[in-house]
Amino acid sequence: MTSDTQETPRDEYVLVNKHPLAIRWFHWINFPVLFLMIWSGVLIYWANRVMHIRAFGHDIGPLFPDSWYQPMAPKWVPTWLTIAGTDDAGTAHQYLWNMSYRLAEGMAWHFTIAWLFTINGILYVLYLAFSGAWRQVLPRRNAFKESILVILHDLYLYRKPLPVRKYNAAQQIAYTGVILMGALMFITGVAIYKPSDQSWLVQIFAGLDRHETAYTVAKFLHFWTTMAFLGFFVVHVGQVMKAGWKNFRGMVTGYDLVDREEAINL
Ligand code: HEM
Repeated sequence: MTSDTQETPRDEYVLVNKHPLAIRWFHWINFPVLFLMIWSGVLIYWANRVMHIRAFGHDIGPLFPDSWYQPMAPKWVPTWLTIAGTDDAGTAHQYLWNMSYRLAEGMAWHFTIAWLFTINGILYVLYLAFSGAWRQVLPRRNAFKESILVILHDLYLYRKPLPVRKYNAAQQIAYTGVILMGALMFITGVAIYKPSDQSWLVQIFAGLDRHETAYTVAKFLHFWTTMAFLGFFVVHVGQVMKAGWKNFRGMVTGYDLVDREEAINL
């Protein structure tokens, strides 16, 4: 290759504005807000020992063992880092943290932060709708088939190149799914807030399970949607780590350095 035809790496890459400012704000506000919702939700859940997980009609006990909510502080931990409390028998101990029997506090946080979670989520969806960014997030007709190829590609079982665009089909399904999960979280949350089984909102969930009341079904869905959020979080962060620092930096700064050819499809 002669020197005048040789391209420097600088020429092969272009700086693109990959993630608009609004999306980055909605995304990074949502992350801590969601975790505060889960933390305050656990305070509500763990305020009452009758809250047990049931699967296929069988009681499989509480979500986590008692000691996870109120773990005893080992002797070597300085007292100022621990929390004084009592166990169920009334004996005083020093704990690492205490998430037991904090119903009022949990509810206060949960219902306050729920506003932020909901408003942020609604603004995000409105932004997607009006800016046209929904085109990059909403799965296309053959998305399911393509998402299988993406998974096989990630597992190094499929080598052919995949279509290049901002989000692949698996990401589109996951991102659209997480938006729908947010909506379900909101609807089930409002349904179980000061519930009456006769209210129209609670009645939406009637008939989903012939043996349970509509209120119990709403509570069940609220809880398992939270678990699904945690599942999404683990896979999402795993994918972000796999995609690398450049991709993460793009979601923080908005800009990404991409291959000139690829930039056309973003
Ligand atoms: C549970 C909390 C989270 C939820 C619900 C969530 C959801 C989303 C959604 C819906 C998108 C697509 C945004 C759009 O373009 O409209 C996205 C993108 C992204 N998220 Fe998250 N996210 C969460 C936490 C995180 C965390 C903790 C990180 C960093 C470690 C992260 C890093 C990213 C990155 C880098 C992208 C861009 C993906 C790409 O360009 O390939 N997210 N996330």
